[in-house]
Amino acid sequence: MTNPLVTRTDCYLRSACVMEFFCRKKKNFRAAVSLTLIFATLLMFQKLTTVDPNIKGDKVKSRWCGPECSSFKRKSIKAVENASQSRGNDLAQVGKPMPKQWDVTRIKCSENSTIKTQAWFRRLNPRFREFVLHRHCRYFPMLLNHPEKCNVSGDVDVLVVVKSVIEEHDRREAVRQTWGKEQEIQGLKIKTLFLLGTPATGKDARNLQALVQYEDRTYGDILQWDFMDTFFNLTLKEVNFLRWFNIYCSGVPFIFKGDDDVFVHTKNLVELIGFRVEENRAENLILGDTIFEAKPIRNHQSKYFIPKELYDRRYPPYLGGGGFLMSSQVARKLFVVSESVELYPIDDVFLGMCLQKLQIVPELHLAFRTFGIIKRKVTPLNREPCFFRNLIVVHKLVPQELMHMWNLVQNEDLSCARQVVID
Ligand SMILES: *[C@@H]1O[C@H](CO)[C@@H](O)[C@H](O)[C@H]1NC(C)=O
Ligand SMILES: *[C@@H]1O[C@H](CO)[C@@H](O)[C@H](O)[C@H]1NC(C)=O
Ligand SMILES: *[C@@H]1O[C@H](CO)[C@@H](O)[C@H](O)[C@H]1NC(C)=O
Ligand SMILES: *[C@@H]1O[C@H](CO)[C@@H](O)[C@H](O)[C@H]1NC(C)=O
Repeated sequence: MTNPLVTRTDCYLRSACVMEFFCRKKKNFRAAVSLTLIFATLLMFQKLTTVDPNIKGDKVKSRWCGPECSSFKRKSIKAVENASQSRGNDLAQVGKPMPKQWDVTRIKCSENSTIKTQAWFRRLNPRFREFVLHRHCRYFPMLLNHPEKCNVSGDVDVLVVVKSVIEEHDRREAVRQTWGKEQEIQGLKIKTLFLLGTPATGKDARNLQALVQYEDRTYGDILQWDFMDTFFNLTLKEVNFLRWFNIYCSGVPFIFKGDDDVFVHTKNLVELIGFRVEENRAENLILGDTIFEAKPIRNHQSKYFIPKELYDRRYPPYLGGGGFLMSSQVARKLFVVSESVELYPIDDVFLGMCLQKLQIVPELHLAFRTFGIIKRKVTPLNREPCFFRNLIVVHKLVPQELMHMWNLVQNEDLSCARQVVID
């Protein structure tokens, strides 16, 4: 029997190990917040150096994990395979039977005119009026579909799902070339899909549609639904995807869901999955940059403004949508429960509401930075590959920055000085 703590210390240089270690030691959120600060400070002290082949021993390790790590990995992947075998069974346990294919072929979405007569409705601004009038419309026809994506059992271990809009083809291109590349890492097969709606009014719809169809013929990785791609309609992407996943991808154990403008350290992500599988903590897995006790924003200028008429409490814990990881079990439960939750204009919060109904608290993981540090563009951390190397998700990069940082982080010659071990 190996002592898991010893194994972990052996490979503490691996970022995920360090992060996991942090999270494991201090479970409560307050502590986690102060650890974030400590961690950021530690990162400041890291230096960017190149590997000196003369340095021996454990001063600088260019390969982070020892033999313990590789043996653990083999075990993990077996467990993932096991998990995928049992998937078919629990599908039957939740919810009503799913159709064999996407069966929504017509837009059935007329305004709910009974709402119009209500006093609170008249106080809303036009954007929210539009939202509440169509709030009951959930599922839309598909313009581009890929039923074959995860049809073959065991073909996909991690499905990377990226929210994008039709005109951002350069972002999709950057994602395909970097973290969203379809590949196998440490035995886990990764496949990628982009989620799109149709162009919002005022855009050159016909040409954009022709372009995206061409793009999809080239890459075969776009799911498109026939609803307008507006900010308030992002929740439609959420529910239509959950339904799609339940129809077509019952054999996929993990989903990583992200935006098209984030940096994702795919290897660290795979590593994290490995840990969780090894410890049998993968089943109810949903983690990322959890936000607790948030209040709805009442500033009319904000994109996230929500009138009191629509929501008048604190939000349940929810995941910052920049990127999060979940197991297929959670995705399935989310789909079932989502059908009884009224749509909410902010998609991240909507998922939080569904999780609350399931009594699942999304786990805060410090390696997911969908807010925060990166926003202050002056901080040197933004240009520091070692900073990125230790994380899993970092928010808001333009395609060029993403490609550049990806290349730096992949560079084998980049060695980040050892971090202080906290135990
Ligand atoms: C996989 O499942 C088999 C039988 O269902 C079990 O004997 C084996 O220990 C499992 N392997 C892992 C790694 O969980
Ligand atoms: C229309 O709105 C009313 C009042 O909010 C609601 O009771 C009703 O269920 C809605 N109809 C549909 C089809 O969602
Ligand atoms: C999925 O695979 C099954 C058998 O492996 C096949 O019968 C079915 O037609 C496939 N479906 C699609 C949409 O490719
Ligand atoms: C969402 O999409 C539907 C279908 O395209 C559209 O009718 C509706 O106006 C959109 N809602 C918002 C709030 O943009």
